[in-house]
Parts: sequence; structure tokens; C-alpha cells
Amino acid sequence: MTADSQVPSLTLNDGNRIPQLGFGVFQIPPDETAAAVRTALEIGYRHIDTAEMYQNEAGVGQGIRDSGVDRGEVYVTSKLNNGFHKPDDARRAFDKTLEALGFDYVDLFLIHWPLPTLYDGDFVSTWKTLEEFKSDGRARSIGVSNFQIHHLEELARDTETVPAVNQIEVHPYFTNDAVRAYGIDHTILTEAWSPIAQGAVLTDPVVGQIAQKIGKSPAQVVLRWHIERGDIVFPKSVTTERIKENFEIFDFELGDDEIDALTELDKGEAGRTGPNPDTFDYIPK
Ligand SMILES: NC(=O)c1ccc[n+]([C@@H]2O[C@H](COP(=O)([O-])OP(=O)(O)OC[C@H]3O[C@@H](n4cnc5c(N)ncnc54)[C@H](OP(=O)(O)O)[C@@H]3O)[C@@H](O)[C@H]2O)c1
Repeated sequence: MTADSQVPSLTLNDGNRIPQLGFGVFQIPPDETAAAVRTALEIGYRHIDTAEMYQNEAGVGQGIRDSGVDRGEVYVTSKLNNGFHKPDDARRAFDKTLEALGFDYVDLFLIHWPLPTLYDGDFVSTWKTLEEFKSDGRARSIGVSNFQIHHLEELARDTETVPAVNQIEVHPYFTNDAVRAYGIDHTILTEAWSPIAQGAVLTDPVVGQIAQKIGKSPAQVVLRWHIERGDIVFPKSVTTERIKENFEIFDFELGDDEIDALTELDKGEAGRTGPNPDTFDYIPK
């Protein structure tokens, strides 16, 4: 199986293309990251999602080099850490991200969190700094993560560039549909983080019944739900069999009833596994 034959690409609002399925590396220890990334690339993944906060950008770069796959064939995303929102700090942090990866560009660079209670609520100057990285070509595309609708409205009011993506928590227990709908209306693609809710949705009886009926695993059913809703996903695993399983989601389709049954599992705010972006203010030491 190759990435070319299986994984659809979506077109971003700046004309660049992104593979709809990737591999996430959150919580993969730095010394295990290169091996996991290499395994994912050998299976066929061509999109890796990392962040400075994950402390494993160096492992991502190493894994790509170890795999023998050309840098140009792999879509690499990283993110600005929370302590670096001031423009000069963001410039230094972006240089360090490229240095850690060992590449002279990233395909996509994101503001990791809006942090509206910090920096006097100013993420606009941070976004304008990311616009510089896009202009100089070191970030092919730029986007945001964990932005609520009102944060996106503020960027739309005060800046020139519409984010290419908004990477937000989405899974059947937290469908986050209002933020997704804003994205659809404003050419911002949604990237769904924790797409299987770190495993929490896999034991849901509705997921289990659909999986049994169509002869696929619970994880495959949930990842397919994301794909058919048009979102970008990058499940994380350090287990080779699961990395393979999560890649094999392009040889079946869900029916409308199955999509609806999964969407109806939404618990609203109670379904979040992660922090609320309106109050999250964590700055790593
Ligand atoms: N922007 C943000 O703020 C943000 C926040 C969170 C995540 N993310 C991104 O989204 C990516 C994915 O989210 P995530 O890592 O939080 O969670 P996830 O992908 O929803 O779930 C990962 C967990 O599920 C297990 N798993 C994976 N595939 C499985 C399968 N087929 N069957 C059973 N269990 C399976 C993994 O176990 P093993 O590894 O032990 O196999 C791991 O414990 C991250 O890696 C990161 O790139 C971004």
C-alpha cells in the first residue's frame, strides 16, 4: 500500500495540498519518535503532526531521514509553543523548530493555543509574525489550533491571511460542530485532534455495533467518520499493528445512518478530553 494510491489530499485556501490522513506524535517520548515516524512512513503515511511542546521535533526529522523517503514527499506540521507568542520570541522559536527538525521549511506552522487570558489577549501580533514565515517561504502554509469562533473573527477583522487550518479537538463525544461550521463557511479546513478521544470512544456500544456490522475495527470506523465529514486526522500510536490499522480506512464507506449515529454520540462540552481554549493558559516551564 502506498500513500499515493490511498490517502486523498485536500486543497488549502492558499492552494497548497495536504494529505487528509497523517500520523500524530503527541506523547511519543523523544527517544522513540524517530522509530515510530519511520514505521509510519514505511506503512505509507506521508503527513506528520508534531509541535515544539511535544519535545520530539528532532525525532520527527530523524525518522523522516532514516526512512529514506524524500523530504518533499512528507507533509510536516509543527506548532508555536505557548511561551513564545511575542513576535521576537516567535521568530526565535520558529528558527529552533526548523533547526530541531533539520529542515529549511515546514509545510504547515500553527499557533498551538490562542491563550486569550495571556499576552493581554493579543494573538493578532503573533499571527502577523506567522505571516512573515509564510512570506519568506519557510512555512508553506500557516494556521491556528484551538481557536474558537470569536478568536477566528478577531483574526478576520485585524489581519490579511485567513488561516489555512484550525486544528481542534473533534471526535464522536465532542463533535465541535459550530467551530467546524465556521471553518467550512470561511475556507478554513478543520484538523481533528484526538480523533479517537485517546481511545475513549472505542468501547462505545454504538461504535462497536457499527464495527461488527461492517467488519472493521472501532478505530477504523471512527477515523472513517472523520474522513467522510471532510476533516483532516492524524491518529497517534506507538503500536505497529495499530499504525497499520489506522491507515487502512480507504477500502470501505459508512452509510448516512452510521455517520448520523456516530455524530449523535456528541456530549457537548462534557465530551471534551482536553482543555477549553477560552481558559487554557498553560506555559511549559
Ligand atoms: N493541537 C492540539 O492542541 C492537539 C492536542 C492533542 C493532540 N493533537 C494532535 O493530534 C494527534 C492525535 O491525538 P492524540 O494523540 O491525543 O490521541 P488519539 O490519536 O485520539 O489517540 C491515541 C491513543 O489511542 C491509542 N490507539 C491508537 N490507535 C489505536 C487503535 N487502532 N486501537 C486502539 N487504540 C489505539 C494509542 O495507543 P498506543 O500509542 O499505545 O498504541 C493512544 O493511547 C496528536 O498526536 C497530535 O499530533 C493536537
